[in-house]
Amino acid sequence: MSGSAPGSVTVTLDGTNHTAKMPLMAGTIGPSVFDIRKLYADLGVFTYDPGYGGTAACDSKITYIDGDEGVLLHRGYPIDQLAEKSTFLEVAHLLLNGELPTREEMAEFERGVLHHTMVHEQLRQFYNGFRRDAHPMAVLCGVVGALSAFYHDSLDINNPDHRRISAFRLIAKVPTIAAWAYKYSVGQPFMYPRNDLGYAENFLYMMNAVPAEPYHVNPVLARAMDRILILHADHEQNASTSTVRLAGSTGANPFACIAAGIASLWGPAHGGANEAVLKMLAEIGDKSAIPDFIAKVKDKNSHVRLMGFGHRVYKNYDPRAKIMERTCHEVLDELGIKDDPLLDLALELEHIALHDDYFISKKLYPNVDFYSGIILKAMGIPTSMFTVLFAVARTVGWISQWKEMMEDPLQRIGRPRQVYTGHSQRDYVAVGAR
Ligand code: ACO
Repeated sequence: MSGSAPGSVTVTLDGTNHTAKMPLMAGTIGPSVFDIRKLYADLGVFTYDPGYGGTAACDSKITYIDGDEGVLLHRGYPIDQLAEKSTFLEVAHLLLNGELPTREEMAEFERGVLHHTMVHEQLRQFYNGFRRDAHPMAVLCGVVGALSAFYHDSLDINNPDHRRISAFRLIAKVPTIAAWAYKYSVGQPFMYPRNDLGYAENFLYMMNAVPAEPYHVNPVLARAMDRILILHADHEQNASTSTVRLAGSTGANPFACIAAGIASLWGPAHGGANEAVLKMLAEIGDKSAIPDFIAKVKDKNSHVRLMGFGHRVYKNYDPRAKIMERTCHEVLDELGIKDDPLLDLALELEHIALHDDYFISKKLYPNVDFYSGIILKAMGIPTSMFTVLFAVARTVGWISQWKEMMEDPLQRIGRPRQVYTGHSQRDYVAVGAR
């Protein structure tokens, strides 16, 4: 393939040169892309990109990542500034509406979220349908999907007011649904949300409080939780966000789309990684076992990966991992945990991996999940809730991306093509003749 006239590319196919219109599209920052929409019409060929590593599926103004430099911007603001100075609900406003809110806008936004924190009382019955040992992600996925059966008054995806109310409902109700999934698994009464508490504070309250006793949320832990939520709020067109967009492109309602996103997040290569990191650390058990473990990771036949390391986009330190490491130390200090064996193990593993040729040459660095599991464990959050917490935070990103897509006049159903490698046409053979 070579460049020719501006906006077109000359391609050599079977020894013959063909010219195809492929205008270059430039973003505000970041690499330009070839617009290949006319490629099939011009040349009769598609492009092949399993895993979509070289394909932009949409244009978006929400999040920018420079994976080589380790940069993450939300609406232009660096993630470290947001994590340091902002709050999760303010970041939610930013992602959804494009700008940091004024005081008045923030107050109105908070009112909008708080107004919707309770769930329809009948939804409680859904929990009884699950086994007590159900994974809370299964419960979250089911109950969030079921919201579409309860809130018919906000399901018209072409109505901006309905879209706004659905966004509020999702951001407000997902923490309640998530905390109840945990309460159900331990057989404790469900705690109703308290609108006098902050977003992260309320989530910790619903998780940890019981009706029999007063419960005071530790402000350092609430701030740490708020920061964890900020760090997970959005991350461009990752697998779960792309799932939400693909489901949304069909005109499915937002509750169904977010349920699809939750299902996609569940896998260990994505949101399930924080849970997998803790399992891995527990399996390693002791520093002396690290060399053997690293040897297994390097052995291609073992299929063992260093969980919490590597990223499709970041080929440098994940900027969220650095903030997470700092937060981890703050939380352990606050809780008076001087020597945490898991943290020691994680730090040693990180040190070895960052100096090992295998990881250096493949540009594998710690990602956001390497530390988040250790913090959440120290805060008393059970391992099975880690990915659920990620989903609570990412709901904001998903619904912001869904809203952006719904407002895009060029939006059309997502429908990738394929290279067919099966049989060519053949005739049916009767069973006796096979
Ligand atoms: N441990 C060991 N080797 C790894 C790791 C790892 N964690 N990640 C990638 N590699 C190696 C692969 O074996 C491959 O080697 P090869 O070129 O010799 O075949 C090379 O690095 C590239 O790996 P890919 O799988 O092609 O990279 P991809 O971009 O598809 O995968 C992913 C990214 C899924 C995140 C991967 O790095 C991984 O599995 N990491 C562990 C799971 C994890 O932490 N996931 C969380 C991601 S962040 C998030 O979702 C919030």
